[in-house]
Order: sequence, then structure tokens, then C-alpha cells
Amino acid sequence: MARVLKLRSGALIPTIGLGTWKSAPGEVGAAVARALDVGYRHLDCAHIYANEGEIGNALTAFLAGGKASRDEIFVTSKLWLNSFHPDDVMGACQTTLKNLRLDYVDLYLTHWPVGLPRDAPSPAAGPIPMDQRLPWDVSKFVDTWKAMEKLVERGLARNIGVSNFTVKKLTEFLAHDLTVLPAVNQVESHVYLQQTKLKEFCKSKGILFQAYSPLGSPDRPAKLIDPNDPVPLKDPIILKIAEKHKCKPAQVLISWAIHRQTVVLPKSVNLDRIAENFGSYDVKLDEDDMKQLEALECNCRFIKAQFLLLEGQTVDEFWDNDIININNGQIHPTEHGSAFTNNQSRAHWPIGLALDAPPAGQIPMDQRPGWDVKRFVQTWKAMESLVDKGLVRSIGVSNFTVKKLTELLEEDIRIIPSVNQVESHIYLQQSKLKSFCKDKEIVFQAYSPLGSADRPAAMVAPNEPIPLKDPIVLRMAEKHKCSPAQVLISWRIQNGSAVVVKSVGRDRIVENFGSFGVKLDEDDVKEIERLDCGFRFVNGQFLLREGQTFDEFWDHE
Ligand code: A2P
Repeated sequence: MARVLKLRSGALIPTIGLGTWKSAPGEVGAAVARALDVGYRHLDCAHIYANEGEIGNALTAFLAGGKASRDEIFVTSKLWLNSFHPDDVMGACQTTLKNLRLDYVDLYLTHWPVGLPRDAPSPAAGPIPMDQRLPWDVSKFVDTWKAMEKLVERGLARNIGVSNFTVKKLTEFLAHDLTVLPAVNQVESHVYLQQTKLKEFCKSKGILFQAYSPLGSPDRPAKLIDPNDPVPLKDPIILKIAEKHKCKPAQVLISWAIHRQTVVLPKSVNLDRIAENFGSYDVKLDEDDMKQLEALECNCRFIKAQFLLLEGQTVDEFWDNDIININNGQIHPTEHGSAFTNNQSRAHWPIGLALDAPPAGQIPMDQRPGWDVKRFVQTWKAMESLVDKGLVRSIGVSNFTVKKLTELLEEDIRIIPSVNQVESHIYLQQSKLKSFCKDKEIVFQAYSPLGSADRPAAMVAPNEPIPLKDPIVLRMAEKHKCSPAQVLISWRIQNGSAVVVKSVGRDRIVENFGSFGVKLDEDDVKEIERLDCGFRFVNGQFLLREGQTFDEFWDHE
């Protein structure tokens, strides 16, 4: 487990830093003093946290004690958004240095990808008026960055970086002529929002990935809390791994981030927890733990940046559709209509219901059984006998996850499922499941490839993305002189899946079949791959048991 990582400048950065967002004046000084005492050598600060003065005093007192010198401590701060005007950057950094009582910071970050007007209020003071919010504008950002580069030139900041950047924004930004390349991208990351793609992208560009809110930010402002949000510190898998290693849940979360070669910034003002968090270096996770933790990914973002959203802009748009929170659960599904043909039969969902159960959508909680592989095997045996009797040629499953398939395949079954039919489209690509199926020679069949635009209104959430209207899809359709639906279907076929497309429109049925004539190129495919955000239109809610979350139902896949 690395205690330090190297930035592109060669500077070393300690992998655990003390987070200071929400650390109130009056307690942050003691927290910093405690952290430095127990061995932290990395403080993550920001002007907007309104506590840099007290941090500066604690740091100065510690340095005066002679236990470490300035160059052994890595200090980060961040440029607040109403100082994004290039003329204001230097002054803002100088204010931070004055507050922190330092001559330089080791790292200075732009706090968000978009600036605000000079007179915009702090988000803590209330909502920022719509007319003061600005859209992402890469050339404006580059102007700010040029001023950031001057900080390095003048020695006020040793390294500069960005925060809350997506792959798309980084790509656009890096295409510009930059003198100093960003050293880091600091983003929310924890077991529920692993940001693996972004992390790999950063790595490929020499940008260090820093994880904020690694514990899930349980003390985030009440307005950012949805009662349905999962809580990493209480996740049963985390608790189980903590028990196995005889350590604390927070230590599992922090240690996991370090095992992934990232910097991690847990916040605490509690003197015991500060020490506990630093003790995460002693927790050595094994391959099996890491696999289990990886499976907790559910694209759940706690810090969504609502305060910066433009009129009509969705959270997903703000984050470039990189990630969508699938835990909000405002989509009400009923059953989907997969076809039953006389040469193929599939178990519709992994869970059966009582014979007299009412239709989907009206099933009482006490009639919803949990997944039980043994019971499913009994159903499967009966399915096998359909093949024996020549009533169906092939049998398969539907809505199975990797976990459920694995469990089923471990059972004593004679016929391996031919097919797993699952929801799949550009926003739910299910790549892991698809390659798992391929390994097992199970055909991956995609339903709702167009995003099921005609599903019942109760299943439609207000801000959900629409594949048929996705700007990237529209652009590709124009490029290939075909329809958006053809792009969506063609992509699924080229990608090695079978695809089930529903239409009752004569022309559309023909049009959809014409997708075979559309050849997407490598660039198209790469662009589409970036649209994956784990978004389900058909989430199985009618089968959800009391207290069960969607992530649990879908085995955190
Ligand atoms: P406190 O400051 O009272 O210790 P994040 O780093 O994800 O933003 O999470 C910070 C939140 O997690 C704070 O509420 C903090 O409370 C709490 N916290 C910090 N360390 C631990 C720990 N070891 N165990 C439980 N909660 C913790």
C-alpha cells in the first residue's frame, strides 16, 4: 500500500489527506493539530470552506514545535468560483496563502469546472440565482487556467490541478495548448461511485486521481440527503470485511481507495476517528475483498452540484452523463413484454410468484419472495423437461445478473441457459454481464434497446435520459444518414448482442430491420461506450421486497 504517490512534477503526495470541508471553525484547528500529531502529512483545504485561517494557525503551531518541516507537509487549496476571472486568480491564491500562513501551497485546484460572476453569493448563503450560473465553456476555463499557470511560475503553487472534471471535460480541456498540465483531478469517489473509467482516463494522461467523500459524506448538508441514499459506512459487505480484518468500516473504505492507487481525503473533526482513519494503512485487503468491494459500484453520487445546474439542466447533463444515480428510484416498472416464441422459452424474471399473485405493480409485499437459487433450480428442471418433450428448442433466463447466473451454473443443471435476456442500451451497456455470458456461451439478448419510450407513464421518471434524443446519437445518425433508432440497434448488433426491438409501426419495423445496413466505425463505438451510465428504465420494482434497495435487487451490478 503506497503511503505516497508521485505527481507529474515529481513531487510526492501522501495518499491519506485530512478533508476539511464541513469542519467548522472552532473545531477544525484541533482536528488539524490532532491529524498532524498522529502522522498525517497532507491537508486538503479550500477557500470556500471558510476555515483556512484556523487551519493556518494550527499548522503554524505544529511547525513551530519542530516535529516536521514545511516541505514535509502537503497542503492543497482551491480557487473558489467567483475568482475564476483571470485577473482575480492571483489575488485569491494570495488570500488563501495569507489565511494558511504559508508562502506557497503544494497544490492549487480549480474547485469546479465552471466559474461564477464576481458578486455571486456563497452556496452556503442560499441558492445561486439562475441568471448568475454559467455553462461549461472550455475556452473560458482555459483563460482561468492560464492564470493558474502563473501561480506555478511565481512559486505560489507548486502544482495545479482541477476538481470535479469528467472524462468529457478533461478531454476538451487537454486538447488546448497548456503550459502546465493538471497534476490531479479531485472528484467524489467511494465504493458506490468508483469512477473507474475516469480513474483510468486520468492515469493515461498522467493526472492523479484524488477521492473526496470516501466515507459517503454522511454529514453533508441536509438538502443533499435523499432518505433512500445508501450509506457506505453501514453497508453489510463493508461491515463483513471490517469484521474479517478486525478493523473499522471507515478503515475498509479508506484502505480500498489506497489499494486502488488513489489519494483519499476522509474528513473528520473527531479526535479518535482522525487517528482511526490514519490507521487504514494497516488494513491489507485481499483480492477477494477487492472483488467484493468492486461489486458495490452503483453509480451513486452524493454531491451532485445542484447549486450549479442551469435552468432545465439535469444532474446527468451536468456530469456529462458519465454517471447517473440509480438509487433515486423514481421509476415505477411493471413487467416488460418479452416475446414467447415456440422455439425458445425463458424464465421471465429470476424470481417466481404465487400462482394467484396479482399482476405486476399490485403484488403485496408479503407475496414477493427473495431470490432463492434452489427454488429456481426446481423451475429450471421443469424447463429442461420442455426441451426433452420437444415443446421448445432452447431454454434461457431473463434479468439475470452475473451473481445469479454464477449461482445457477454452480447447481446441478443439465441444460445451460441458451440466452440471458436483459435490459441493455447505450445507457446500460452491461459490459461485464455481456462478457460473462460470452464466457459461458450464453447469448446476451438486449431488450429495450431504444430506451422503451412507450413504457407506462408510471415507469417514467421526469429527468431521465432518452437514448433516441441523445445528442451523440443524433449526430451519428446524421453522419451515417440513418435514423437514431438504427444507430442504437446497429451498435448493439455490432457489439455482438442479439437485440429485441419492439414496434407496431409498419415503417418503423422496416426501418429497424434496416439497421443491418448501418456500419458504425471505431470512433462511433468509442463515443457510445462513454455514454454508459448504468441507467435502468425497467428496474424490477414490482418484485422489490420490504427494505430491499434496487442495488440489492440487481446484486449491486
Ligand atoms: P466526524 O467529522 O464527526 O468524524 P467524508 O470524508 O466522506 O466526507 O465523510 C465525513 C463524515 O464521516 C463526517 O460526518 C465524519 O464525522 C464521518 N467520519 C469520519 N471518520 C469516520 C469514521 N472513522 N467512522 C465513522 N464516521 C466517520
